[in-house]
Amino acid sequence: MTKLLHVNSSPRGESSKSLAIAQAFNDAYQARHSELKVDAWNLYQEPLPNYATNAAAAKMAAFGHKKMTPEQEMEWARCEIVYDRFVEADEYLFNVPMWNHGVPYLLKQWIDIITQPGWVFGFHPEQGYQGLVKGKRAFVIYTSGVYQAGGRPGFGADFHAEFFNDWLRFIGITNVTDLYYAGYDLLSPEQAAVAYKATQARAQELASFW
Ligand SMILES: Cc1cc2nc3c(=O)[nH]c(=O)nc-3n(C[C@H](O)[C@H](O)[C@H](O)COP(=O)(O)O)c2cc1C
Repeated sequence: MTKLLHVNSSPRGESSKSLAIAQAFNDAYQARHSELKVDAWNLYQEPLPNYATNAAAAKMAAFGHKKMTPEQEMEWARCEIVYDRFVEADEYLFNVPMWNHGVPYLLKQWIDIITQPGWVFGFHPEQGYQGLVKGKRAFVIYTSGVYQAGGRPGFGADFHAEFFNDWLRFIGITNVTDLYYAGYDLLSPEQAAVAYKATQARAQELASFW
């Protein structure tokens, strides 16, 4: 049985464009794969562990092969629960809105929790990082309200799709399909409505041969 993990990083529920496009993809994909098991992870409804002093110290201890204090071990174990849920999936679906040119802070927190040495990456002093999450694939929906790729500098920059796609590659997920809805929601609602419909249709189409 294939397990698909859907990580929703928009808190906007029924107003969320990225979630609606992800659902269009998911419905079409599930229609083709009746055996698929979907784990839906809404980052706003299931609180993540805080990632602060002891968690950061635990990471540095793990990286330097040092012994952790009991407090650090406790934080490390909390992070491992989040990592276990991530790594047990075979496939990933992410919907990622642009927030202030980057990704929403809870998605970044989720990334900081699971991106640990020995879990999702290894490090070699000469060769650098190696991704450890092998044989998996991801489908990612990006949305923005103003920014468009190739747009004028005054309309923002991409530390969003660039960052998240790079993180996927860094941890070893190189089979990535992404779909970008840059609808000018805030500037041209008519243009946005057309682009939104087209992106939903494209998501369904991609689901038929993903
Ligand atoms: C907190 C916040 C920050 C945002 N920052 C940007 C931004 O930097 N650039 C941009 O183009 N759109 C920005 N937007 C607009 C959203 O990216 C856009 O509305 C997108 O469709 C949101 O995805 P969602 O509908 O799935 O929530 C921002 C929206 C919010 C709520």
